[in-house]
Formats: sequence, C-alpha cells, structure tokens
Amino acid sequence: SPDYSAPAAMTHLQELDRIAAENGGNRAVGTPGYEAALDYVQQQLDQAGFVTTRQEFTYGGTTTWNLLAETEGGNADNTVVVGAHLDGVESGHGINDNGSGSAAVLNSALQYAESGAEPANKLRFAFWGAEEVGLVGSTHYVDTLSQQERDQIAMYLNYDMVGSNNAGYFTYDGDDSDGVGAGPGPDGSAEIEQALNDALSGAGVEPDGTDFDGRSDYGPFIEVGIPSGGIFTGAEGRMTQEQAQKWNGRAGEPYDACYHQACDDLDNLNNEAFEKNSQVISSTVADFAAQLPIPQS
Ligand code: PHE
Ligand code: ZN
Ligand code: ZN
Ligand code: ZN
Repeated sequence: SPDYSAPAAMTHLQELDRIAAENGGNRAVGTPGYEAALDYVQQQLDQAGFVTTRQEFTYGGTTTWNLLAETEGGNADNTVVVGAHLDGVESGHGINDNGSGSAAVLNSALQYAESGAEPANKLRFAFWGAEEVGLVGSTHYVDTLSQQERDQIAMYLNYDMVGSNNAGYFTYDGDDSDGVGAGPGPDGSAEIEQALNDALSGAGVEPDGTDFDGRSDYGPFIEVGIPSGGIFTGAEGRMTQEQAQKWNGRAGEPYDACYHQACDDLDNLNNEAFEKNSQVISSTVADFAAQLPIPQS
C-alpha cells in the first residue's frame, strides 16, 4: 500500500508561507497573495492530471475564485468533495488557518494521483475563497448547484486548521454523541466521523468530537443535507485537563494562541499534529475513493 507519510504536505505549506511573504504578507481575499496561492495549487493539480476549474464570484466589489479539481474517473453519482479554505486573514501568513488544511488536502490529491489507483467514486477537491469573510466561496458553490448536483455529492470533508500548536484532535461530531451544542450532522455524518476516528486511532490518537457549529465551510453543505465530516485541531478555545493528558498538550491554554494573528506562521505550527493529520487525510481520501463509509440506499 502507498506510503502516506507527509513530508510533501510540509513542502506545500512552506510554499504557501513563501507566497504570503512575497505578496504583501498574507493570502486574504482580493490580494495578490491569494491569487498567487491559487496559481500554485492549480498548477500542482493540473500537473497531476486533475480536471481543474476556477469558479469566479464577487464579494463586495471584489472578484475572487474557488478552485475545483476532480478525477476524470469515478462514479459521479457518488462524488466525494474534500475541501479547505485557501484564503487567510489580513494579519499574517495564515499557516495553521488555513495553510495547513490547504496543504494537507493538496497533498492528499497529489498522493492519490501518484498512487495510480482508479477511483470507484469521483473525487473533487475544493479550495474555497473568501471563507474568512463569512464562508462566501463555499456558500456560493453550494448555492449554484442544482438539486441533482447536490444529490450527486455523497459526502463533504472539511479541513480547516489541522496543525494547531497546542493541538486538539477533533472530528466533527456527526452523531452529536455529547448531546450538547449543535445537533447531529445530516444522515451519514456519524459514519464519516467513525471512519475518521478509526483512522486517527490507527495513528495513535484518541479524538474528541467538535460540534457542527457552522464556523467553517461545511456549513452550507450540512444546511442542504449533505453528509459531512472532517478534522480540526482547535482555534481560540482552551484545552481541558483531560485533553492535555491524552494529547500531551497544555491545559488551560488555547489550542492556537496565534489564531488570526501575525504569529500564525511556520513557527506556530505543530509539525507532529500536521503530519499525523495529513497522513490520515490522505489515507481516508484513498479509502473513500474506493468505498463510501455511508450505507447506500
Ligand atoms: N473557520 C474558522 C476560521 O477560519 C476556524 C474554525 C474552524 C473555527 C472550525 C471553528 C471550527 O477562522
Ligand atoms: Zn480563520
Ligand atoms: Zn479557517
Ligand atoms: Zn460523536
């Protein structure tokens, strides 16, 4: 089986860091940094043989884009969409938020292509624009799908912040097992959560659930009933005692003390968490291309 170790994910993240540094210090919507990041990711995906398209939309008076890349093969009626927002806030390089998810998703696409596997289910990788100004790109994408196109999406996977310094290991709580906060995800989300949890346990970590509270790009997908899931290592929230013990973290401190700040740079990244999650993202993308974790009607 392929080696899903993740040094390549780190090289993509370093490229996103360099792109921010060379383009005014960020990758925010409407900036040259965002466009340069888009060019980089699209070129990588084109080279690997994906069918790529830019979906243009406007935010305020600003024109920007989502980037979509899909496999030529695979059953389009069981499309697996894997997404990360590629834009960042203006205050800095946006390495954990969300260079980490973008690099890990790009890495998973390139590793899948390199494996030479023929997907049973179509894979579509999505790099969202304008997340930081209100999930604008992902909302635009879902809004412009016909009902038939929505029905063709078997599941949506979201990766937004996967290398937080004081890393939590969260999967979106598809079954609302904690019974508090936001309710469960659409039917099928519990099975996605279970599959991601199994992959994380295989990597030696014991995940907790995190609510589908609508703060990232899965929001528009769950709103129209598409089963969803994903991994998240935490933002401004603080780690509990129990979490610090099982994850070897720092109790009482934020998962990411540099959330939305200038210090969200490469030094802020938890390399171990980023590489573990990249590996899990790559291996589960390959799994879901071969077989959905959701019972089919
Ligand atoms: N979407 C938030 C951001 O980009 C981060 C976040 C992700 C917060 C997931 C909560 C849950 O700033
Ligand atoms: Zn953010
Ligand atoms: Zn984010
Ligand atoms: Zn759960």
